[in-house]
Amino acid sequence: MQLTPAQLDAFDRDGYLFFPGLFTPRETDVLKAEVPGLYSRREAFNVREKGSDAVRTNFAAHLYSEPFAKLARHPRMILPVQELFQESLYMHQFKINGKMAFEGDVWQWHQDYGTWLNDDHMPTERAMNVAIFLDDVNPFNGPLMFIPGSHQKGVVNAKHDLTTTSYPLWTVDNDLITQLVARAGGKNGGIVSPTGPAGSMILFHSCLVHASTSNLSPWNRVSVYLSLCAVSNHIRRHKRPEYIAHRDFTPIACLPDDCLLKNYPVDLPWKNGMPATALQTCTEDFALAT
Ligand code: SIN
Ligand code: MN
Repeated sequence: MQLTPAQLDAFDRDGYLFFPGLFTPRETDVLKAEVPGLYSRREAFNVREKGSDAVRTNFAAHLYSEPFAKLARHPRMILPVQELFQESLYMHQFKINGKMAFEGDVWQWHQDYGTWLNDDHMPTERAMNVAIFLDDVNPFNGPLMFIPGSHQKGVVNAKHDLTTTSYPLWTVDNDLITQLVARAGGKNGGIVSPTGPAGSMILFHSCLVHASTSNLSPWNRVSVYLSLCAVSNHIRRHKRPEYIAHRDFTPIACLPDDCLLKNYPVDLPWKNGMPATALQTCTEDFALAT
């Protein structure tokens, strides 16, 4: 998939691109059918909501689930990002966020690159966020909210929130959010929420300020979030465990476009369980062997 000049301009201006219905219902169903089995596992890679058994985030499914391993190599997602960065990509993070009906909690206002810089020592913002909806997303089930153009500010001030939800995050304070929303148009477009059918995809800049509210509706809002990083921009520190911030910087090789519906061999290194090393952490920067 080639991005048009108009799409490249829109990405520079707004910090995101929305592709409604990019994956077909048949393709999305293959992925969605896997989720209950993954969420039922009692493993570190399933982070549950505070005070609830509902899964907030499942990490690294592309290393132990065949359909998600294929999604992680899908050309409809990889090729436009490769084109934007003019470089090969590796998978920095792979999440399936639940935001389950009645139980899905908020994601506070944040930039993802703030976390990747502060925690993982990723050198620059040459990494892209991709959201793929596995459920229809509507105004009621906790859609993503973006502040258009906020990526142009680069990394903004943030504080490490360890208490609001079950997942630590570098969050942006209310005063700065108020300023950024006013700059983006206030009540006229200062906050936008791409909504659409299951199978829709959003590409969004790693400095775009975003959040989502809790899901009080009776509809799940399961979405996959992949973070694709330019290989030369790989992280320099393993402060977070490997199942959260990956350490394999091998360039992603795409599968054919029909990969979700046909059999193609994929490597599933954690099929029989996560290795103990995936839990190890280190606060020193590392150097790659040359
Ligand atoms: C995220 O920002 O990483 C997740 C947001 C969401 O699932 O709504
Ligand atoms: Mn985020």
